[in-house]
This record gives sequence, C-alpha cells and structure tokens, in this order.
Amino acid sequence: MSRVFLIGAGPGDPELLTLKAARLLAQASVVLHDSLVDPRVIMLANARAKIIDVGKRCGRHSASQAEICVLLVEEAQTGQMVVRLKGGDPMIFGRATEEMEALRAAGIGFEVVPGITAASAAAAGTQVSLTQRGISRSLHIITGHGAEGGLPAHDYAALTKSGGTLAIYMGGETLPGLAAHFIEAGMEPTMPALLIENASQPTIRHLRGTIATLPGLHAARRASGPVLILIGEVLSEILVNTAVEHAFAG
Ligand SMILES: C[S@@+](CC[C@H](N)C(=O)[O-])C[C@H]1O[C@@H](n2cnc3c(N)ncnc32)[C@H](O)[C@@H]1O
Repeated sequence: MSRVFLIGAGPGDPELLTLKAARLLAQASVVLHDSLVDPRVIMLANARAKIIDVGKRCGRHSASQAEICVLLVEEAQTGQMVVRLKGGDPMIFGRATEEMEALRAAGIGFEVVPGITAASAAAAGTQVSLTQRGISRSLHIITGHGAEGGLPAHDYAALTKSGGTLAIYMGGETLPGLAAHFIEAGMEPTMPALLIENASQPTIRHLRGTIATLPGLHAARRASGPVLILIGEVLSEILVNTAVEHAFAG
C-alpha cells in the first residue's frame, strides 16, 4: 500500500482541491509542503499532523530539492503516512521526478494525486477557452525560466508558427527577454497577452496587453505573487467579454 502521496494542491482556492487530496490530507501524519501551497489548504491537514514547510519557490533551488528528497524518504521510513503537497499539479513544473526517483530508490511505495494547474485556473478566471475552436488548435505549457537562470532555449519560431496558445510558467522575471525572442521569431507585436497573478485567489490581479506592451506594464506594477503569462489570439476575446471586463476594473 502507498504510504506516500504526492498531491497537487491546486492554484490556491481550497475548493479546487480534489476530494481525494482533501481525504488524504485529513489522514496523513506528516505533510511536507511548498511555499506556493495556500495556507487554507494546509489547514485541511489532520490537526495532529507534523507540518513541514520545505519552502521552495518556483523550482529554482536544486540543492534544496536534494534536501527535500532526503527529508521525504526519512519521514516515509518512519512508517507514517506522508503527504507531499505541491502547488498546482505535481507533474507540471513540480520537480516530481526527483522525488519519485528518491522514493523508488528507497523502495517506498507512492501515489500521485493530480491537481489543477495554474493555466487551468487562469483560464477559468478570465473565462477564455485556451483551445477555442477555430482560433487555437493547441496549448503549449512552457517555462519562462532556463535551467541556468536565464531565458530557456525554446524554439521560439516553432511556438510562434504553431498559432496555439502559450501558457508561460515562471516567466515573470524573464518576460522582457521572452517577448523580444517571440517578436524576433515573427510573432506580431499586437498579439494579445495577459499576465495573471495569484490565479484563483482573492488577491488575483490581471494585466492585459500585447506581447510588445506586457513587459512594460508588468515592470510598472511589480507582482509579489506567482504569475502566469498567457499569449495567443484567444485572448482577444477578453476585450469584448463584458463580464470579464468588470473583473478587470481597477
Ligand atoms: C514551480 S512552478 C509550479 C507549477 C505548478 N506545479 C502548477 O501546476 O501550477 C511555479 C509557477 O507556477 C505558476 N503558478 C503557480 N500558481 C499560480 C497562481 N495561483 N497564479 C499564477 N501563476 C501560478 C507561476 O508561473 C509560478 O512561477
């Protein structure tokens, strides 16, 4: 039987947690969580559970990832039921592979419980389908953060030519460089772009622009929470959707 559960905590709103995640959280003796996991989700843990904040932001610190793997294995080896809570979905930019490999190497059974990823939450909040029929045939989930800290080595021309919607994770800091690469690769400077900070949370904030203007708008209003960037023709819809227009007011 699995004693360790790698669970997707979703984008913030505790009601977006799966029933399975909520049940396992209430049963676990140990909960290890990332800094992006909303405190309201952690409050659903068993009152007697040992709660450990492993405090990683945006998958950047590979040294502490190694420490997390060691800690996870150590806690699991006590025979207790362990929940490893990760923001969004564990299998999307969640460093799940390292943790699964460490558990396998230690002979510890585990199960992965999916969560709602940030792109899904962002789309729901803007009421825009990311794969709107007739406009976008694909959705590309990409990182904005290269492994060495700079820009990632995407095929910017291929992504631009695809005509699909781009969902960029961890791209807040590299947005100016990303935008320049896309425009250089042939993307129209007027391509609609949207930045969503704290998707699904009460502190949600949107910045609307184009691939050319969004970096400047973002620089003028620095975000403190996690941001997701959406790029694509589907976003032109938000300009005419009055219900969403209201949500953007202010
Ligand atoms: C290390 S990645 C983890 C992604 C996560 N596993 C998921 O499926 O959403 C962290 C990035 O996810 C995005 N993100 C996570 N939660 C978010 C939220 N509530 N609002 C906007 N972006 C979010 C941001 O781009 C952030 O930099």
